[in-house]
Amino acid sequence: MSKRSKTMIAVFSGILILAGISGIMSMNKENESSAPTASLNDLLSIVNPQANSLSPDMEKSTPERLKNGQQIFRFDTFGDEAYWGDTLKLHQAIAGEKLGGVGPGLSPKDALAVGLKVDAQALPPSLVRQLKAGKVDLDDPANTLALLKNNAVLGVTGFFDEAGKLTSMGIQCALCHSTVDDSLAPGIGKRLDGRANRDLNVGAIISLAPNINVIADRLGVDVPTVKKVLAGWGPGKYDAVLLEDGKGFRPDGKSAATLLPPAFGLSGINLHTWTGWGSVPHWNAYVANTQMGGKGTFFDPRLNDPKKYPIAVKTGDWNIRNSPDLISSKLPDLHLYQLALTAPKAPESSYNKEAAARGETLFNGKATCARCHVPPLYSEPGWNMHTPKEMGIDAFQADRSPDNMYRTAPLAGLWTHQKGGFYHDGRFADLNEVINHYNNLFKLKLTENEKRDLREFLLSI
Ligand code: HEC
Ligand code: HEC
Repeated sequence: MSKRSKTMIAVFSGILILAGISGIMSMNKENESSAPTASLNDLLSIVNPQANSLSPDMEKSTPERLKNGQQIFRFDTFGDEAYWGDTLKLHQAIAGEKLGGVGPGLSPKDALAVGLKVDAQALPPSLVRQLKAGKVDLDDPANTLALLKNNAVLGVTGFFDEAGKLTSMGIQCALCHSTVDDSLAPGIGKRLDGRANRDLNVGAIISLAPNINVIADRLGVDVPTVKKVLAGWGPGKYDAVLLEDGKGFRPDGKSAATLLPPAFGLSGINLHTWTGWGSVPHWNAYVANTQMGGKGTFFDPRLNDPKKYPIAVKTGDWNIRNSPDLISSKLPDLHLYQLALTAPKAPESSYNKEAAARGETLFNGKATCARCHVPPLYSEPGWNMHTPKEMGIDAFQADRSPDNMYRTAPLAGLWTHQKGGFYHDGRFADLNEVINHYNNLFKLKLTENEKRDLREFLLSI
């Protein structure tokens, strides 16, 4: 084959792939309530049939890499059981004294109450039948262990010995960034990867750990202080900077934790996290190494700042090197999978269509929202950062990040994370409060009807 025709084939297959991906996005829009994000099968069925026309690299790698990325997102602990199990001994509190651990144990009822979610599809049919018939004792920690044995608790992996005793545990990305559709019961259903779990009380879960003194020592405070900080988080929040700067509370005495954001709809967006720490793979490496306690490599000299991040400097968190490295080789496929998680479109019955159409005109016009939330990204193409002053809010959280700014939050799929409020710390309880904030800040002079239309539009994207 001539060089030219090879090039033509390569270009043509590129077009096919692009066409396939946009097909998935539009499919996703039509089929929302049941399929909140493009399912991996959708992706594979579009990429696979064309395998013959793809370049040799794409033929093998794209479907496999997406599947691998999903597996990592859902199930890879990166070796962090060394932290959650072996060091903090959280598994002992889950098992309870009767089953070889400590304390009363964590019953399925308690597990659901702290927002842990159960993947119904991972359960054996007999257990599903028993659950449906109300025949599973939800007060018995032994049944939590049964769920863990089936790998059915989202983002939590239990390690068991041959006798069936829980010997350690680890966590995954799916813990905070996925939930279920409640199809079997509240908290039990099909996985929805990428959604923010705003029911999850991470602070309450960590507080159960028998060896919480490890965290107290790291922060240089006593155990009651750590418990007070963790109790301040509440559902749907986590503090991803506490272990580096040691700040548990804001100057106004409120918790320094931020809301769990969704991990969907991130493709095309430049900087990530509420305060724009970096790219998706930067943050993935940061979280896996420094927050989850996985064993990998992480380098960010911006954290080598004794004033801003005294604990990162003391512990060497700005320059982590583990051998073997259980994280770095997983970043590419994890990244690919995250970029494939499109934002779920709102069910049409959930908002007023006519009002939303008027709201869209306002969003792009009089209300000036689109100058920062540029459709269809709903963040700026380019440097998507703003000063606290521009946003009319305090600088506390911005100042905990390298750039001292806030990132324009991408708004697609907003309807899935209304619980816990809006802005990085949930300071605005609902969209009306957000709109009123902008109305005052930018002197928009929106009428009450216009505010309602704008809200309906926000709920529709
Ligand atoms: C304990 C809960 C928790 C776990 C586990 C967790 N995250 Fe996060 N994640 C957060 C929080 C909280 C933020 C927001 C941090 C901030 O802005 O300061 C966040 C932010 C993000 C963002 C930025 C989203 C955006 O809007 O730009 C991405 C991407 C992300 N996480 C991916 C991951 C991946 C991948 C993993 C697994 C390696 C993971 N997270 C594990 C809590 C968690
Ligand atoms: C100057 C740029 C800018 C303009 C103009 C702007 N926003 Fe924002 N928006 C941001 C930033 C930055 C954030 C993140 C603030 C934070 O996390 O504390 C944000 C956050 C939000 C959020 C919360 C998202 C979440 O996940 O909690 C909503 C909703 C929102 N904006 C809607 C609007 C609407 C509606 C308008 C027009 C009335 C608007 N924005 C105008 C920059 C802007």
